Amino acid sequence: MESRLFNLSGRTALVTGGGRGIGLAIARGLAEHGADVAIVARTKEQLEEAARQIETETGRKVWIFQFDLAKVELLEGLFESLIAETGGIDILVNCAGATIRGAAEEVDLKTWNQVIEINLTSAFVLSQAFCRHRKKQGKAGKIINIGSLTCHGARPTTAAYASSKGGLLMLTKTLAVEWAKYNINVNAIGPGYIATELTEPLWTDDEFNRWVHSKTPLGRWGRPEDLAGTAVLLASKAGDFITGQIIYVDGGWLALL
Ligand SMILES: NC(=O)c1ccc[n+]([C@@H]2O[C@H](COP(=O)([O-])OP(=O)(O)OC[C@H]3O[C@@H](n4cnc5c(N)ncnc54)[C@H](OP(=O)(O)O)[C@@H]3O)[C@@H](O)[C@H]2O)c1
Repeated sequence: MESRLFNLSGRTALVTGGGRGIGLAIARGLAEHGADVAIVARTKEQLEEAARQIETETGRKVWIFQFDLAKVELLEGLFESLIAETGGIDILVNCAGATIRGAAEEVDLKTWNQVIEINLTSAFVLSQAFCRHRKKQGKAGKIINIGSLTCHGARPTTAAYASSKGGLLMLTKTLAVEWAKYNINVNAIGPGYIATELTEPLWTDDEFNRWVHSKTPLGRWGRPEDLAGTAVLLASKAGDFITGQIIYVDGGWLALL
């Protein structure tokens, strides 16, 4: 008998940052388990290529939305268009993220605000729109926020990024306890170091690369597809009693003394 626990047939997921990297791997993983997916990012060619790949590999429907999530005042409108086009969203994955690295005392306010808006404010505004949508439909929902090891600890030169991800963890917990009454589960995934475009300056740096290997008991950088299974768990019936949690997918990083 086929397991219903991880089956996402009949569901539609919205994955921000689904054009490449972790977001693409999560969108593909959800589609492999039966979900149709809508993906949002700024780069049209990457969205088109991601949609082509997912549709070819899984046979699921993919919608693409070219949008800059830093335009937070326009996000409600984006969500309305998404609903109109897809017919409704059951799973929201807030994955899009950006970072700047630099001495905290030199970070200008414009850059700080941009990182907070993309990583934290956009997740909040989309979650609000998602909650209102699910309430109106009288249906349950799943929200998955992509956190970071910086939800747990800090490194120099990441003040804006770490603050946004720390905030995202508390947003996850707050919405989980507040929206449990609507049967909306809100959880986070904390990736360890994953080799993507975002971390290219790090994995191409020999010293940093050695440091990551030395700190990761499983002895390698993560791959975007390493995150897909946890996202499927949190999006599916198997995750129905999990809420307010962060699950670190870090190759053992946080377990190491
Ligand atoms: N890689 C890691 O080691 C790691 C570790 C911990 C957490 N994370 C988190 O995982 C998430 C994905 O990271 P990744 O490594 O996959 O990065 P990535 O390869 O750079 O992908 C980021 C995605 O977000 C989209 N995005 C960025 N800014 C956007 C904006 N203003 N509006 C709309 N879309 C935007 C990008 O598309 P466009 O550029 O086309 O807009 C892209 O699709 C991020 O939240 C990141 O903080 C990553």
